[in-house]
Amino acid sequence: MNQPSATPPPENPNPSPGESRLGPIIRLAEVDSTNRYLLDAARAGEASGTVVVADHQSAGRGRLGRTWEAPVGASLLMSVLLRPEIAPEITIASVHLLTMAAGLAMADAVEAVAGFAPILKWPNDLLASDPLVGNRKLCGMLTESEISDGSLRCVVVGIGVNVQWSDFPAELVETATACNLVSGRDISRDELLNEFLDRYSVLLNDLNSVLSDYRERLGTLNTRVRIELAGEAFEGIAEGVTDDGSLEVRTDGGALRCITAGDVVHLRPV
Ligand code: BTN
Repeated sequence: MNQPSATPPPENPNPSPGESRLGPIIRLAEVDSTNRYLLDAARAGEASGTVVVADHQSAGRGRLGRTWEAPVGASLLMSVLLRPEIAPEITIASVHLLTMAAGLAMADAVEAVAGFAPILKWPNDLLASDPLVGNRKLCGMLTESEISDGSLRCVVVGIGVNVQWSDFPAELVETATACNLVSGRDISRDELLNEFLDRYSVLLNDLNSVLSDYRERLGTLNTRVRIELAGEAFEGIAEGVTDDGSLEVRTDGGALRCITAGDVVHLRPV
């Protein structure tokens, strides 16, 4: 088992009164899943704000029970441990705000480091738009919570960003992209991590505007979408996001359906 190396949080370049920056950062060469590692560490008492970053995962976890795979060094693979005390207004019912905030922070970090603005896709994907091939997935997020006695104990926000990856395997070659491919130059995972942590730290100190900012910037809204659920798929127009984070889709038959989990494909307008 490799030894984790912990680095203290770097100085916040723009500290504001009452704001704290996420950290420490635990760096791993290899782990099964940064989310699994941090959930176990949380059960053993790891501090809120701890960040785990790995060069490679042997069993990375994706949404809806899927796996998340990337070659060594190709992606920023990270998890952030948040306990309710870091954002006291967070409850079981509002955990989605932490993931939405992560999406906003990572979209801005990618823009700052790689020079292009990703599109947010419900619930928490970042896409890069390619004029020739359309939108491709750049980043995915998986948030896992620990609840006991009906109370939220901790939340682990896991993020995978394709940063420096040119040879996608056959199963991803038509759907995924990476920061280096879009920007046409090498992109540093550490620089992206630091830019993200700066922004996420600030948002966690004040979550009040996260839902409205997320709605405003969500590329899924007012878009024709295909919704893929277990055993069912349908098309419609994404009309809204409810306060609890569900996606409201107006079906072609005129019904308003509320989606809590599933896959969304952005379609071109009909
Ligand atoms: C998705 O399916 O889109 C979500 C993928 C989330 C992957 C990240 S990589 C770092 C963290 N650790 C995991 O095991 N999963 C998340």
